[in-house]
Amino acid sequence: MILQNKYVLLGITGGIAAYKAVELLRLLKKAGAYVTVIMTESAKKFVGITTFEVLSENPVLSDLYFDTDASVKHIELAKKADAAIIAPATANTIGKLANGLADNALTTTLLAVTCPVMVCPSMNSDMYQNIRVQRNLDILEKDGWHILDPDSGVLACKTTGAGRLPEPWFIFDRIEAMLTRKDMKGKRVLISAGPTVEAIDPVRYVSNHSSGKMGYAVARAAEKRGAVVTLVSGPVHLDSPVGVTRINVESCDEMAVQMLSRLGEVDIIIKVAAVADYKPIDPKSSKIKKKDGHSELTLNMVENLDILKLIGEKKTKNQFLVGFAAETDDLEKNAVLKIKKKNLDMIAANIVGADDSGFKADTNKVKLIFRDGSFSDIPLMKKNEVADILIDHIIEKML
Ligand code: PMT
Repeated sequence: MILQNKYVLLGITGGIAAYKAVELLRLLKKAGAYVTVIMTESAKKFVGITTFEVLSENPVLSDLYFDTDASVKHIELAKKADAAIIAPATANTIGKLANGLADNALTTTLLAVTCPVMVCPSMNSDMYQNIRVQRNLDILEKDGWHILDPDSGVLACKTTGAGRLPEPWFIFDRIEAMLTRKDMKGKRVLISAGPTVEAIDPVRYVSNHSSGKMGYAVARAAEKRGAVVTLVSGPVHLDSPVGVTRINVESCDEMAVQMLSRLGEVDIIIKVAAVADYKPIDPKSSKIKKKDGHSELTLNMVENLDILKLIGEKKTKNQFLVGFAAETDDLEKNAVLKIKKKNLDMIAANIVGADDSGFKADTNKVKLIFRDGSFSDIPLMKKNEVADILIDHIIEKML
């Protein structure tokens, strides 16, 4: 959402990783941004301009003197830009920009922008580590530009080390973070997500349908808004949100240990996880065998720890505690009871059972209910949008 209708300049310089800029451009366009690509002459030797013109639906700016109106256009573009990215950025372009030199369309435009700028260096690892390149990167960073560290790995020149352009999805994620307001800066947030699994024997377990999508969306949103985020996660098939410390757990008991041991270090606790309420009393150490095809198996279960309730008992006045409630009936009544019983500041109540809300869906419909009885209905929307609204309310209540 943050990139919707934003004007983005995508600078491409002459490196083998220039092909990755194609996918980055696609992601920016998909997010609703208006993109103008600016290429250096060497960049054009790696990927042709037609690809960028077609995907960006815009002419590529590359020659200050021969492009129609370009001598004015680069200043116009610079003025209009909401963000500028150079990916890949060569040592040559980095050096020019750090020293205020402008001898082509890219450097001239970039010296005229006032928007946030992200520089993504990509080159041979010895070049990257060269003291002059590092000095130039330091200058740009001190001057307020964002430098995205390159990945390490085998490089095009067959050496191994730092210098690879990060994957386009990662650069895209960091562009979103760069443009997001940092209203959670200084806040430490502990989030739980996903299901817990409770062993019956070494191969079977009791669990639920939580995919982790809602909790991961909250973690991603908080991180982008500047918080230091720790995510305690049950088993899910999701990539870790960028910049978040993820701790994997399986059972409720393991989740309890990880959450409770971190309580003293955090300002906000958000418990999105769908914790199994019961666990088998006596999990077997070897696989339970079936018998003659007609046998019955009775599982004796015992209530798990209520982690949220324990946190509610321990939380200090300055900590903000949020629970989630998955309900099939009496949504409001049950959610309000949970606020009192578990000493919460806020609960996000969602009706589960529909295809487009609750477990596994990409969207959710929740009602936020606060300790003072006030509430806010969030209509059906994407889980990352729900996450942002949830955080808006937390910030407002904490002020
Ligand atoms: O993961 P997704 O597929 O995206 O689905 C999202 C979700 C439906 C799991 C999420 O939106 C949600 O509703 N999470 C809470 C699910 C739940 O366990 O609800 P509950 O009403 O059983 O529990 C209420 C609260 O107590 C929750 O914050 C839960 O984390 C906590 N709890 C519950 C039981 C327990 N033993 N310990 C707990 O801490």
